[in-house]
Amino acid sequence: MATLEIFTLLFFLFFFLPHTPARATTCPRSKCTAGSPSVRFPFRISNLQPSHCGYPGFDLSCNNESQTILTLSSSGDFIVQTINYKDQIISIHDPDNCLPKRFLDHDVTLKDSPFIYAHGLETYMFLNCSAAAAATWTFAPISCLSNENYKVIAAPTSLLSLPGNGSEQCVVISTALVPSLFDPLQGLQLGWPEPECLSCEAAGLYCGFDGASSQIKCLDPSDYLFSGLSRVAKFGIIISMGIPGLLCIIGTALCVCDLISAGSRSHQPIAELSTVSNREPHMLRMGLDGQTIESYPKTQLGESLELPEPKDNTCPICLGEYKAMAILRTIPACSHYFHASCIDEWLRLNATCPICRNQSQKQ
Ligand SMILES: *[C@@H]1O[C@H](CO)[C@@H](O)[C@H](O)[C@H]1NC(C)=O
Ligand SMILES: *[C@@H]1O[C@H](CO)[C@@H](O)[C@H](O)[C@H]1NC(C)=O
Ligand SMILES: *[C@@H]1O[C@H](CO)[C@@H](O)[C@H](O)[C@H]1NC(C)=O
Repeated sequence: MATLEIFTLLFFLFFFLPHTPARATTCPRSKCTAGSPSVRFPFRISNLQPSHCGYPGFDLSCNNESQTILTLSSSGDFIVQTINYKDQIISIHDPDNCLPKRFLDHDVTLKDSPFIYAHGLETYMFLNCSAAAAATWTFAPISCLSNENYKVIAAPTSLLSLPGNGSEQCVVISTALVPSLFDPLQGLQLGWPEPECLSCEAAGLYCGFDGASSQIKCLDPSDYLFSGLSRVAKFGIIISMGIPGLLCIIGTALCVCDLISAGSRSHQPIAELSTVSNREPHMLRMGLDGQTIESYPKTQLGESLELPEPKDNTCPICLGEYKAMAILRTIPACSHYFHASCIDEWLRLNATCPICRNQSQKQ
């Protein structure tokens, strides 16, 4: 009999033990939403992964539309499209979908950031041309800066010096340094020379901080979750995650033992265990039936939360606060009260009041 009570207790422990310490210190690979780039060292999503999971200067965030955001201190926000860890290249895009405008306005600088242009820079001239003049160019107009009558074209200045270039029909609006091989569809490709993880990644490993030395080292992807943690902290997390599971296994084992001994006491072959519950209901079913539970008084709280006992405003089972309009149930034998949904679950497994252990009903 006692084992089922223990099992019930373990069951509740498993679900109510705080799992947060593990979440707050480990380095899970995270993403802003299902289709977003997977974020791991040297990057981290600053509100999902603790600081030891990323390298300084590589903080990302998620905006209110679940886009992954890279904020460059001198250039503002960009949307991260892809992160290529093997080649150390991140592709970013302009939130207003007009990267060329940010170059034309000299709005992009990598000053004070750990990033470099993956393919170098080239001087481009931005030209504002009539639609007819634009049609003579091999460069496609920049759609976000053009309309039906006027097209904006960007061309490397080296090409403009060719004879018959047609630029006389256009107005030069800006000369700016623009990344080479710039393809507005692919986004802006940035590289990072430090931290250098090319050899780790090439070997199928991840880079991460070593908790003991704070040095960067190659980690097996399965160890990555614990990167940056000391051995003691790692051990603590494994224990805190493992104990509830272990308790559950022990609880199940105790229950099974109880069933088996109940079976042998009544000289039932083990193979017939499934029929035991029908013959000896008191040995296995210790909770109350639905009809009895329903007969216990229920009350609905009003808007003003007039609690039966004013001091006590949390449900002792789920530890949740009573909210306005919540439905509570009282156990008649002791007048303790709980969320109806919580105590109903409890009473189905156990006939005693979880607080005072009074038999809630003569059986
Ligand atoms: C996100 O926030 C911006 C302002 O910061 C707002 O203009 C936009 O409508 C918001 N988007 C959503 C989906 O809430
Ligand atoms: C291009 O020139 C036309 C005519 O001068 C002007 O109306 C338009 O705003 C210009 N476009 C840009 C992007 O400068
Ligand atoms: C080609 O473009 C340049 C502007 O960079 C201009 O100075 C030059 O006159 C153009 N050449 C011809 C032949 O139109």
